[in-house]
Amino acid sequence: MSEDLSEVKRDVRVQADVSARLITHLRDDTTDLADQDLHVPIEHFVSPVRAKAEIALMKTLPLLVAHCSEIPNAGDFVTREVLGVALLIVRQSAGGVQAYLNMCRHRGGRVETKPSGSKRVFMCQYHGWSYERDSGALRNVPYESSFDQIDRGCNGLHRYKTEQRHGLIFVDMSNDRERSLADYLGGEVDAQITPWELEKSSIYLERTFTLDINWKLVMDGAIDILHPRFLHVGGVGELIETNVGVYRRYGRHGQHFGARTKLRKLIKAGVELNGGSKYIGSNLVIYPNAMMIAAPDHIEFWTVWPSIESPSKSITQIRFLVRSEILTPEIEKRLQKSWEILENAATKEDWPMERYIQQNAEAAPDGMFRYGRSEVSCQHLHLQLAADLAGNGG
Ligand code: FES
Ligand SMILES: [Fe+2]
Repeated sequence: MSEDLSEVKRDVRVQADVSARLITHLRDDTTDLADQDLHVPIEHFVSPVRAKAEIALMKTLPLLVAHCSEIPNAGDFVTREVLGVALLIVRQSAGGVQAYLNMCRHRGGRVETKPSGSKRVFMCQYHGWSYERDSGALRNVPYESSFDQIDRGCNGLHRYKTEQRHGLIFVDMSNDRERSLADYLGGEVDAQITPWELEKSSIYLERTFTLDINWKLVMDGAIDILHPRFLHVGGVGELIETNVGVYRRYGRHGQHFGARTKLRKLIKAGVELNGGSKYIGSNLVIYPNAMMIAAPDHIEFWTVWPSIESPSKSITQIRFLVRSEILTPEIEKRLQKSWEILENAATKEDWPMERYIQQNAEAAPDGMFRYGRSEVSCQHLHLQLAADLAGNGG
């Protein structure tokens, strides 16, 4: 018996060495391991001081805030609150993208209040000051003669460094001119994302969830490989392997490759395997708070934001990115099914458990949580955050 697994689905990229390692793990009952367990202070999930530091750190990093399909044409915009900062993200006439602080230079009103739309000029509704969409320059001041002279050159909208890569829009609120997005992501992340053709995709489905859970617990739950067969009995736990995976570090970012349980069955049955992409899934973490999970017909794209109100709150957005040319009624049915499975697992199993953890952390914040050697993807996130907060994150 032989099954050809070499066929690489359009959205999945698994290098031969990764699939070989995963198959070996399945054969030997092993998995990728960190050098040691990691003990994370429970306080990290409940401390307002720690939460503030994490938010301040995030504001120094390129953050994934939108997808190109949300603002395809010149003048298209979305407004978005990111870590408490009101952003106005606008497609420029020359094709680029620019994020502004959505704050009028007169007395601080929002210059755009709609969630999305298309405009040539943005006008503050309070007293009518208006701004160019392309540069954010101050354009018109009603009753200007009743002000002292206003220097147009330094009264435009505040601009944040904004870059689009692979159709993903990143904003760096620190305006760090030295570091390009390409450098931040690095070649390995680039190589993984490129075949997904995200720039040709659009958002098929989007849901936002406000959860009473620290953002890191939500991230942990989505990248944890040790829980499927326990928490998702009869569901996802039957479909994907527990405690087997290959983990690759790409600097701050990382990618976990896991197997469908079908792959173990094929190995047991002595099926000759060529490649393995068909039964291998991956979860790419774009540090600090974005994740891309590749499925054959879509990319599941998560962003998890700490709330500025409390360490015990976060906002999770989940989107399915799909190339419109593959959308047939058949594929749409599959996407709906995928969403149902995901929504059930997340809302009925993962998030309730994470909520229990949050409550326990609040009641008993003095100890440590233990991340075992196989929980290497979770370890990476916590270690990188700790290193960055200590100022030696590289
Ligand atoms: S606050 Fe915007 S015009 Fe006055
Ligand atoms: Fe889960």
